Amino acid sequence: MKSNLTYLKKLELLKELDSFKDGQFFAIADHRVKNHLPQWVSFSPHIFWLKNPEEEKNLEVYRSAIEFFLKQGINRSSTIYAIGGGATTDFAGFVAATILRGVKWVSIPTTLLGMIDGSIGGKVAVNLPQGKNLVGAFHLPEKVFICGEFLTSLPETEWISGKGEILKYGFLSQEINDLVNSKGTIEEVALACAKYKNEIVDKDFKDKGERVLLNLGHTLGHAFELTLKIPHGHAVAMGLKYLFKIMKDENSLKEWGKMVKSLNLPEDKFELSHFPNFDMKAFLSYVEHDKKKIDKDIRLVLVKKIGFCYTEEIPMKDFKAKITSHADFTN
Ligand SMILES: NC(=O)c1ccc[n+]([C@@H]2O[C@H](COP(=O)([O-])OP(=O)(O)OC[C@H]3O[C@@H](n4cnc5c(N)ncnc54)[C@H](O)[C@@H]3O)[C@@H](O)[C@H]2O)c1
Repeated sequence: MKSNLTYLKKLELLKELDSFKDGQFFAIADHRVKNHLPQWVSFSPHIFWLKNPEEEKNLEVYRSAIEFFLKQGINRSSTIYAIGGGATTDFAGFVAATILRGVKWVSIPTTLLGMIDGSIGGKVAVNLPQGKNLVGAFHLPEKVFICGEFLTSLPETEWISGKGEILKYGFLSQEINDLVNSKGTIEEVALACAKYKNEIVDKDFKDKGERVLLNLGHTLGHAFELTLKIPHGHAVAMGLKYLFKIMKDENSLKEWGKMVKSLNLPEDKFELSHFPNFDMKAFLSYVEHDKKKIDKDIRLVLVKKIGFCYTEEIPMKDFKAKITSHADFTN
């Protein structure tokens, strides 16, 4: 099971949207991309706008969205369009998965992270105070429209985040690694990553096998994201680097550095020393609560060589000891 993935120019996307001009175009959209959209969308009564998607990705706003669409006359043959970054598409996908027991949805990612990861694969969710993505569903978007022109307004921090997540794909796929290191355009790289994820999802929609490999860099990454309060992909880039460091995987560390340079990423921002108030206790507690913990073990995704990753379970206490004894974490 996979989505129909289309890479298109803004003009083509607007034409696609314009076909709904006189009908009921139900959408959940990020306020920050309003200027990218046709004027009629701004005035449409059927759009549920999000001002701060990550903060609004919760059960209270979810309920408001459901009530909003019911009032606007949504029915079981309607489609919900999601226009925004990963937080918006996660939220909109969850609304689509559950309203009237599920309606179709179409994803239009507007951040680099959304284009290569967040909008693809049908894992949709909202956050709870206890943690991220704790209420969710598997609900695949019918279509994903990738339009690179949205990226013209993307702030620097979100570029770093998107490129940070690209590093992960550069370990999973030799083809993407080559493309990154030969300085392929960002559109080429993004499309290759999106296609790669779409294919993995096709083979393992419910996350029981190969899809687990997409978690490469995410065990330490999630802990960095929560401790340092940095964007997801930025944290994944650090999660990869420090995984290779504590597992003493010198080859992967070198590959990481090579791709960081090719992507023009600011290497110093991925150094732990860049964050003077790092809270080791909180960090370890987030590692401890990782979703990939199985009884007393943690399932890690590791790199054998570019294009060949695998999982290994090691005792959580050994993994934590590797962290606490590493010089970068003790200084
Ligand atoms: N479902 C999945 O498989 C999956 C995978 C990875 C991440 N995610 C989720 O995705 C979210 C992170 O995604 P994200 O980084 O896209 O975050 P996001 O949606 O919060 O967007 C980041 C910021 O960019 C702004 N923005 C969006 N598009 C813009 C544009 N074109 N120009 C200017 N600003 C723009 C947003 O308003 C926000 O401030 C998290 O909630 C994470 O849990 C989901």
